[in-house]
Amino acid sequence: MTEQSAKLNFGSTNAGLEMRSGTLGPDVIDVTSLYKQGGVFTYDPGFSSTASCESKITYIDGDEGILLHRGYPIDQLAERGDYLETCYLLLYGELPTQREKDDFVYRVTRHTMIHEQMSRFFTGFRRDAHPMAVMCGSVGALSAFYHDSTDIADPHQRMVASLRMVAKMPTIAAMAYKYHIGQPFVYPRNDLSYAENFLHMCFAVPCEPYRINPVLARAMDRIFILHADHEQNASTSTVRLAGSSGANPFACVAAGIACLWGPAHGGANEAALNMLMEIGSKDRIPEFIARAKDKNDPFRLMGFGHRVYKNYDPRAKIMQQTCHEVLDELGIKDDPLLEVAMELERIALTDEYFIEKKLYPNVDFYSGITLKALGFPTTMFTVLFAVARTVGWIAQWKEMIEDPHQRIGRPRQLYTGAPMRDYVSPEERG
Ligand code: CMC
Repeated sequence: MTEQSAKLNFGSTNAGLEMRSGTLGPDVIDVTSLYKQGGVFTYDPGFSSTASCESKITYIDGDEGILLHRGYPIDQLAERGDYLETCYLLLYGELPTQREKDDFVYRVTRHTMIHEQMSRFFTGFRRDAHPMAVMCGSVGALSAFYHDSTDIADPHQRMVASLRMVAKMPTIAAMAYKYHIGQPFVYPRNDLSYAENFLHMCFAVPCEPYRINPVLARAMDRIFILHADHEQNASTSTVRLAGSSGANPFACVAAGIACLWGPAHGGANEAALNMLMEIGSKDRIPEFIARAKDKNDPFRLMGFGHRVYKNYDPRAKIMQQTCHEVLDELGIKDDPLLEVAMELERIALTDEYFIEKKLYPNVDFYSGITLKALGFPTTMFTVLFAVARTVGWIAQWKEMIEDPHQRIGRPRQLYTGAPMRDYVSPEERG
């Protein structure tokens, strides 16, 4: 808490507002009492200047390009740790000891199967359904199968629901994929690591053995780490808002998946790869750069820009390196998409428009090329983001539920519609 306070004077009101300091980042002016003091609301659509909650999980310094989970820089976690360790860190607040880690991995691994009846649920979807549509439906349906972990007032049930979600999401995602391509579902294998098991469930078929490539499994794990959490982004805020009413965590995560699907958020990885394919060759880049700069053209360079990062997205650097590792391992030389991407990045980073607006590549710029090389179709890209982000959603949901000051989220509005008027019967309406 800071000693400072803020004064807001308007009309005859002199409102005194408390200020608060975090461990890092800008102070906040607590406007909770503003309506009581002055009868006005604050107005911030898009939340550019609004801290919607207090959190101890993730910190981003967008100007410096810094991303910390519980204080640890993302590059250290991605280079030295693994995904389940990051999950533990996000959920419990500290990196696990070896014993704690073994126990956590064991517990997650024992929840990887889904209720057998859920597999029949999938057949209700059209085969050509977008896998994100299948994810929204099937994750929401988890609450119909796991009644014993939907009591949000019980800390044990909250933890069981959290572990179930982290454990089952790859299984559901792989099933959505298998259903989409008409192959049989592949059951999880508990002798494999989280990322290995996911690749196995996606790419193994019953008619031949599937050999897991450790370089590709490591890349998959790193992609999961890079997407694990990102403080109060649109889908996380959706999960928090849904959860603030007391809804069960499976339903809240389904709401988060729906929000993630949009092209301005998680759908950007799919959109970025589609854009690179549309550009096709380096000589067409100037045409697309010109379109991105044209105020009358809605086209945007997908994979560029970020609401918070006004510097290189720290995840994009690691993603770029991972992308090169995967392409090298697979012997993909001179990938035309990578060539277009690198040239586009070079041009954008030296172009006045992008420099002035601080538009740098974000995590989605290189993830599409990497996921394509791993064998995933573009429709699966956002699904993979959802798998990885599940732990972030659930950690943020838990933090909110466990906050003693938690109240239902209920924003107000600036009403600009018709003032009060009397009902007129149809024959009198003229
Ligand atoms: N290409 C061209 N111009 C852009 C772009 C872009 N990708 N992004 C922003 N701008 C321009 C925009 O036109 C605006 O110009 P002006 O001030 O002249 O009107 C200015 O930059 C600021 O843009 P904004 O829309 O006010 O910024 P925002 O913070 O609301 O939007 C964003 C952030 C990520 C939605 C946006 O940059 C965007 O649409 N990027 C492409 C989609 C994308 O890659 N999204 C993934 C984000 S990272 C993963 C995730 O969070 O899910």
